[in-house]
Amino acid sequence: MKIKLDFNNTMKEFVGSHGICPDEIAALSGKISAAIAAMDGKRDLMAWRDLPHNQGQVVEDILAYVDEISPKIQALVVLGIGGSALGPIALQQALKSPYYNLSESLRGGRPQLFVLDNIDPSTINDLLNLVNLEKTLFSVVSKSGSTSETMSQFMIVKELLETKLGKDAAKERIVCTTDPQSGNLVKIAKDEGYKTFYVPSAVGGRFSQLCPVGLLPAAFCGIDIKALLEGAAYADKLCKNPDIWQNPAYMFAILHYIALQKGKNISVMFPYADSLKFMADWHAQLWAESLGKRNDRTGAEVFVGQTPVKALGATDQHSQVQLYTEGPHDKITVFLGVEEYAADITIPRTFQDIPSLGFLGGNSMAKLLTTQLSATEYALLAAGRPNMTITLPKVTENTIGQLFYILEVATAFAGELLNINAFDQPGVEEGKNATYAIFGRPGYEAKKAELDARPNKNPKYVIN
Ligand code: PA5
Repeated sequence: MKIKLDFNNTMKEFVGSHGICPDEIAALSGKISAAIAAMDGKRDLMAWRDLPHNQGQVVEDILAYVDEISPKIQALVVLGIGGSALGPIALQQALKSPYYNLSESLRGGRPQLFVLDNIDPSTINDLLNLVNLEKTLFSVVSKSGSTSETMSQFMIVKELLETKLGKDAAKERIVCTTDPQSGNLVKIAKDEGYKTFYVPSAVGGRFSQLCPVGLLPAAFCGIDIKALLEGAAYADKLCKNPDIWQNPAYMFAILHYIALQKGKNISVMFPYADSLKFMADWHAQLWAESLGKRNDRTGAEVFVGQTPVKALGATDQHSQVQLYTEGPHDKITVFLGVEEYAADITIPRTFQDIPSLGFLGGNSMAKLLTTQLSATEYALLAAGRPNMTITLPKVTENTIGQLFYILEVATAFAGELLNINAFDQPGVEEGKNATYAIFGRPGYEAKKAELDARPNKNPKYVIN
């Protein structure tokens, strides 16, 4: 069950002048060798690369906890945002039906899963009214333990549970996942006696789905988390290969890097399976937050990055493909294909007397969807638009583990090629700090003064 990267359609030989030729790759050999050396030499910055190998005991603890708690609950609600939400959502949506929450038979006795990754009060209100609090486990996931969105949700839930169920029962309905040493959440969890799982300190949010951040909700949904880690471990072997022509992650990054140098400022991820729709969401954050950087490692201003765009086949053929084939030459597209879908349906031979519909009869929906993928690859190729396809033989725990891992290594490798730090997010901080200042968090008085003095405080250009 090995996933495959087909990048023929990125090459000049096939796609024409907007493509890439082997000579351009060869010309980067110095940079590529340095990046390969960095991938090995900077393992301390990439503790997420050890997750496929070092979560054995954690998996056992998770499975024991899931066995103990599952019979007592009907719903699991994850409170988390960014990396604490997108990985778990992508994982669950890949391996479970989109109707999982609606169907007891699809769940097979497992709890429903809700991920509350935003703070829109109407959504929170609806969800808290929907679930049976006595039979709901709330999983608070915050690496830093200080994210306002997650921590405010947690405060609401904690108070509600304690009021409705009492403090002891409330304690049994809260589980935390956080950094083992630093931050507020680990301290609160210890003080309150909550069950707690840990994000290894050196693993950042968007690289954390192969630790309890992703594994715990997945296990509650009946996903085989051991097989997931096995898939990632297998991908780790592939991604260690110094031969870039055999290493899917390095080649993915190199092609994107060259495309970016040629003005392809947008990377479209275009899965042809509903199950992979949220992998594109997860990847968008990984690619954007890791690679969108003002400064390189020397401190020079570089303002690099590539804007990730999410699409879904066949749906977005009827929405975005017109732009992708005839609009500006500013994109590289990554299709995600599946050879064998979890189910298939044969189109009946209805309307045989209408030739323009009758041709569909007798074919399968899987064939129609994979043909649509081939047709869109061809349409982009014919229009001179570079594109590549990652194909999963089937969507399984093993292949999803491979996909997560390959895309993570590709992101880290692209960071090396760009000579930026792919593991920080200084640009996210400004908005967070402004929120703290406006809310009066101690220590943010200077920021508050700065905000109060801003020239656009009383907007001049507004249409009411
Ligand atoms: O990738 C990241 O580091 C971020 O997206 C974080 O996951 C996000 O900001 C949430 O942070 P935390 O888990 O600390 O609450």
